[in-house]
Amino acid sequence: MKVQLTVNGTSQTVDVEPRRTLADTLREDLGMTGTHLGCEHGVCGACTVLVDDSPVRSCLMFAVQAGGSKITTIEGLADGERLHPIQQAFVDNFGLQCGFCTPGFVMLLEGAHRMGIEPDADALVELLASNLCRCTGYVAIKEAAAQALAVRRSSTAPSRGRPAQPARRPTRRYR
Ligand code: FES
Ligand code: FES
Repeated sequence: MKVQLTVNGTSQTVDVEPRRTLADTLREDLGMTGTHLGCEHGVCGACTVLVDDSPVRSCLMFAVQAGGSKITTIEGLADGERLHPIQQAFVDNFGLQCGFCTPGFVMLLEGAHRMGIEPDADALVELLASNLCRCTGYVAIKEAAAQALAVRRSSTAPSRGRPAQPARRPTRRYR
């Protein structure tokens, strides 16, 4: 089947079998290997990408289901040599060791930001618990995530005189 996807701002048409996952399509058909595959059954979150600005486990979605959607992968965040603020927060806080899980955490946090989620400390722990890291422990990841969301919030703060959007707690909508 031919499927049209807009990946990191570029429209692409891929010819895939109906059973091909979005993760395999991104990695093997489009060469975007920054989307990692850990468990391949929706548990670890390493394969998280944004589909129309919502975090999605790309190992659980068929490419054909994403047809016509806007996909954002880890490759779409940095601005040339300049890291995206969430990536920079992970560097600043030593929030990674082997780095295998890191794209998934970064995309999860960027998705939360784009969805308008502003978690407090407890909710942030709950949010991060959706993704697995097998080597750092979660203290540095939590610090990186807190910095990342604060920086993202300030970079999109409403201008003076415009009412701020109410904060939302995370819901279990991560697919
Ligand atoms: S590889 Fe998709 S959730 Fe683990
Ligand atoms: S940094 Fe190695 S799995 Fe998270």
